[in-house]
Amino acid sequence: MGRGSHVCSVLGSVLLLLCLGSAAAQKSSTWKTLSGDAPLVIAKGGFSGLFPDSSDFAYESAPGAALWCDVQLTKDSAGICLPNINMDNCTFTPTAYQSDVKTYNVNGVSVKGLFPMDYKITDLLNNVYLKQAILSRTARFDGLTIVPVEDVLSKYKAPAVWLNVQYDIFYSQFNLSMRNYILSVSKQYVVDYISSPEVNFLKSLLGRVSKKTKLVFRFLDEHTVEPSTNQTYGSMLKNLTFIKTFASGVLVPKHYILPVTQDNYLQPHTSVVDDAHKAGLEVYAADFANDFLLSYNYSYDPLTEYLSFINDGAFSVDGVLTDFPITPSEAIGCFSNLNNSKIDHAKPLVISHNGASGDYPDCTDLAYQKAVADGADVIDCPVQVTKDGIPICMSSIDLGDVTTIATSQFASQTTIIKDIKDTAGVYSFNLTWDDIVKNLKPMISNPMLKYNMYRNPRNRNAGNFMRLSDFLAFAKGNDLSGIMINVERAAFMAEKLGFGVVDAVIKALDDSGYSKQTAQKVMIQSTNSSVLVKFKQQTKYNLVYMIEENVKDAAPSSVADIKKFADAVSVTTMSIYPATDLFLTNQTNGLVQTMQSAGLPVYVYVLMNEFPSQPYDFFSDATQQINAYVKRQSGVDGLITDFPGTAHRYKLNSCMNMGNSLPGFMIPAKPGGLIESMLGAAQPPTLAPMPPLTESDIVEPPLPPVNNSTASAPSSHAAIRMRTDVSILVTLMLCAAALMI
Ligand SMILES: *[C@@H]1O[C@H](CO)[C@@H](O)[C@H](O)[C@H]1NC(C)=O
Ligand SMILES: *[C@@H]1O[C@H](CO)[C@@H](O)[C@H](O)[C@H]1NC(C)=O
Ligand SMILES: *[C@@H]1O[C@H](CO)[C@@H](O)[C@H](O)[C@H]1NC(C)=O
Ligand SMILES: *[C@@H]1O[C@H](CO)[C@@H](O)[C@H](O)[C@H]1NC(C)=O
Ligand SMILES: *[C@@H]1O[C@H](CO)[C@@H](O)[C@H](O)[C@H]1NC(C)=O
Ligand SMILES: *[C@@H]1O[C@H](CO)[C@@H](O)[C@H](O)[C@H]1NC(C)=O
Ligand SMILES: *[C@@H]1O[C@H](CO)[C@@H](O)[C@H](O)[C@H]1NC(C)=O
Ligand SMILES: *[C@@H]1O[C@H](CO)[C@@H](O)[C@H](O)[C@H]1NC(C)=O
Ligand SMILES: *[C@@H]1O[C@H](CO)[C@@H](O)[C@H](O)[C@H]1NC(C)=O
Ligand SMILES: *[C@@H]1O[C@H](CO)[C@@H](O)[C@H](O)[C@H]1NC(C)=O
Ligand SMILES: *[C@@H]1O[C@H](CO)[C@@H](O)[C@H](O)[C@H]1NC(C)=O
Repeated sequence: MGRGSHVCSVLGSVLLLLCLGSAAAQKSSTWKTLSGDAPLVIAKGGFSGLFPDSSDFAYESAPGAALWCDVQLTKDSAGICLPNINMDNCTFTPTAYQSDVKTYNVNGVSVKGLFPMDYKITDLLNNVYLKQAILSRTARFDGLTIVPVEDVLSKYKAPAVWLNVQYDIFYSQFNLSMRNYILSVSKQYVVDYISSPEVNFLKSLLGRVSKKTKLVFRFLDEHTVEPSTNQTYGSMLKNLTFIKTFASGVLVPKHYILPVTQDNYLQPHTSVVDDAHKAGLEVYAADFANDFLLSYNYSYDPLTEYLSFINDGAFSVDGVLTDFPITPSEAIGCFSNLNNSKIDHAKPLVISHNGASGDYPDCTDLAYQKAVADGADVIDCPVQVTKDGIPICMSSIDLGDVTTIATSQFASQTTIIKDIKDTAGVYSFNLTWDDIVKNLKPMISNPMLKYNMYRNPRNRNAGNFMRLSDFLAFAKGNDLSGIMINVERAAFMAEKLGFGVVDAVIKALDDSGYSKQTAQKVMIQSTNSSVLVKFKQQTKYNLVYMIEENVKDAAPSSVADIKKFADAVSVTTMSIYPATDLFLTNQTNGLVQTMQSAGLPVYVYVLMNEFPSQPYDFFSDATQQINAYVKRQSGVDGLITDFPGTAHRYKLNSCMNMGNSLPGFMIPAKPGGLIESMLGAAQPPTLAPMPPLTESDIVEPPLPPVNNSTASAPSSHAAIRMRTDVSILVTLMLCAAALMI
């Protein structure tokens, strides 16, 4: 609280209201940390999720966070920051150094490589360059120089510096004293935190460093043996009063607090935070990174993970050690203590994509229930048809993509249908609704499969299939601002299946009462203008034209064309933020503005939480990506997403209406910013300019009439004929009744 109110008193009266606003917000969220202050964000080696750990770039890019340095010593007793004692892992070394490769026993583990204490500092600063040690991260910032500890203490003006001494006993074998080194820098600079997994090292500093320096005991894996006491870290956890004799805090792997099962589901939290707080120890949690596999309970959303450590209601840790400092800063600054049940259906609309398909199989009852529970404003149904002419909600016309058909008795009933794709498939129109419901199960979609990322495996086949009529009945009973029905392949269905999908959708809406109500907006989305033209002729529904291609802008004539048949457009993420090799380019984009000034709201598709779906500029953080689409000059009007919960929570964040006083971590990414900061040779290839949208992309021939002579007809006219028969029957009965009177 102190820091906040100080800033307010310095600022002029114009800003006072804003200050009061944020101060009030802070008051209502008294933190459950030991001190009551907001938790500390500790940037491990700086912003090491993006830049090489402990590099100048990484340290410069973590404003507001405490900077963490893994202290290593050189032959001449200088200190450098390097995440690993084995330089092979995190640096490029000259080939001449390869003859120095050694194998050392490092605290009981045999390690082969190159070690800092075998070199003088000048040899390291001049000849050795940092590289990204995590292979899944970008290597485009590799080649930066090593940073001396003194630089971290003085150069970056960090709010706090945290020195971690991972090895003391090991260095002492080389007659290098970590203690002497740390004491000497502590005399010259303010060192806010010193951590170590070695008890005797921390004890040796007791009373020798400033009273303001916090000594933190670092717990390693439970089964690892602490070298000065010969006890495992797991057993030491039971003796916190002992820890308190030499430390003011503990740093523990995050699974000490929230353990996960072997298949990566969260278990109830342990009592570690409570126990430590009772013992008067602060608790810092380690191992946070946005791009490591998170527990499935977090739906691939790292912000949710942080919130569970700082905002759970039961406890808050005192700080988090992370490779991605931006995300916990957001969590602490703008997302704690939100009331997630608040729904106002304000812009931007949160539109589900196949329901909450990030958590449940596409278009199942569970996916829709979750979407509504997560605060979606609009839920969606992509319409397909069964053999018996029943419109259903299914994200793919090929049952192999989204059901268990491959292991069913229908697996071999494949056909090649060139209008759909070149390879064989079993299609929704090949099976009756009964066949589908009785024999198949839904299957969760896995769009990030090539990165070996699977969506919630326990929900893999959960939920039930939905007919369009089931969907409408469900939607109608919920607090939604609307529904979105996607119609594709209408021409194919008419010609080859004899199914008039537009008429079928209109009929389903009529039957469910949607045509007569105004509480929920009915949106019809299609990539084919002829579908929307047909709807426009027959209904007053809200028509959304989905632009499939990545386009830079739209020619005025094309906008005029779109206006003739659509009320809104949906565009790809790339059309708004072009990227090359996963970096945003500085291509300017006028599409959103062009459409909006023509009175067409713009929805962006498809947003996902999984980090490989995002350019690096969004920091592997779905919230940053959403922020960029919403907070840009012309913000989008809707977010079409597999994870409606993340988008809805974004809308509630307490920094949403801060205007120009947005905290730094909520200022949207500058397109091209990361590319600019790369060395020329590392820059990705320039993106060929994307084409603008033109008239010829838009105008389509009208839908063909429904082919009523389809032999192997699924078919709708069979169903319609039957209904006709029924109505004839009813008419006959009425006539009969009339005659009898
Ligand atoms: C470096 O070490 C980390 C942590 O042990 C490991 O995940 C990574 O794969 C290693 N990188 C290289 C290039 O060996
Ligand atoms: C460390 O110092 C001791 C005593 O001065 C000496 O005997 C030993 O050889 C030195 N070890 C190394 C690795 O320099
Ligand atoms: C720890 O154990 C090792 C081997 O088990 C032993 O050599 C050493 O003396 C022990 N150290 C302490 C402090 O007990
Ligand atoms: C805690 O650790 C200290 C030092 O190792 C030891 O003397 C004490 O007996 C331990 N207490 C318990 C309850 O294990
Ligand atoms: C995590 O998800 C699993 C499966 O849905 C559930 O059983 C478990 O209770 C969840 N864990 C927590 C801490 O909510
Ligand atoms: C959260 O919002 C809902 C809906 O607006 C409201 O009913 C509820 O009282 C709110 N809860 C709190 C704790 O403010
Ligand atoms: C699937 O449906 C199409 C269109 O009706 C039909 O041509 C094809 O023969 C069907 N495939 C099978 C295996 O029945
Ligand atoms: C950014 O855009 C400007 C003008 O549009 C262009 O001159 C410049 O080369 C671009 N820079 C990069 C790195 O693409
Ligand atoms: C759009 O529908 C028309 C029929 O109305 C069809 O001829 C055309 O091929 C369709 N366009 C695309 C891109 O599918
Ligand atoms: C098929 O459609 C044509 C034109 O709409 C119509 O004249 C004909 O009677 C229909 N045939 C059947 C069997 O419904
Ligand atoms: C209508 O369906 C019949 C039977 O499947 C087929 O032979 C004919 O080509 C179809 N007509 C069109 C225009 O596709």
